[in-house]
Amino acid sequence: GLRKKEVNVLCLGLDNSGKSTIINQLKPANHPNHLGPLSPEWKHVSQTQAQEIVPTIGFSIEKFKSSSLSFTVFDMSGQSRYRSLWEHYYKESHAIIFVIDSSDKLRMVVTKEELDTFLNHEDIRGKRIPVLFFANKMDLQDAMSSVKVSQMLCLENIKDKPWHICASNAVRGEGLQEGLDWLQDQIA
Ligand code: GTP
Repeated sequence: GLRKKEVNVLCLGLDNSGKSTIINQLKPANHPNHLGPLSPEWKHVSQTQAQEIVPTIGFSIEKFKSSSLSFTVFDMSGQSRYRSLWEHYYKESHAIIFVIDSSDKLRMVVTKEELDTFLNHEDIRGKRIPVLFFANKMDLQDAMSSVKVSQMLCLENIKDKPWHICASNAVRGEGLQEGLDWLQDQIA
């Protein structure tokens, strides 16, 4: 049969944006009865093999592998102090999931700074690597719409790579399927 492509997905976003919640939704262990928000296809490929948490150095990394997908999740709250560590993973990433807390208006500027730094990195700039944005926590009353989040982050300025933004509620798994379908199409 066909060999599945090894795909590294890097999940970025400020602390508290919802990265862990989204990643947990991708893990088939959480959907033993196939009742989760993700298609069987995705559940099939996201078979958890390993998990590793490294909290001691000021930011966390979580990794889990599947037959064809390898997820690496970073908490960017460590900011520039730890950038030299996580930027090491840029080169080997085939897709990016960037999670935003849509209700966190105060830190939208910080999010934009981190996004711009990421987009301008030598290993990312000019590379046609798909970037999926989740405008997460859409269920909260003061959450901005995905259009508003997109405007605040100036996503229309991204010309060198395909990108897509989805409103999501990671707790309930809403919006994740749409985003991942898009990502899968881009990777295929
Ligand atoms: P760090 O581990 O600090 O990097 O955070 P994280 O980005 O992994 O966020 P995490 O998934 O831990 O979520 C932070 C908090 O937000 C938790 O209390 C989640 O339950 C909550 N949360 C995540 N997604 C949503 C959402 O869509 N809606 C609401 N209301 N809460 C959410």
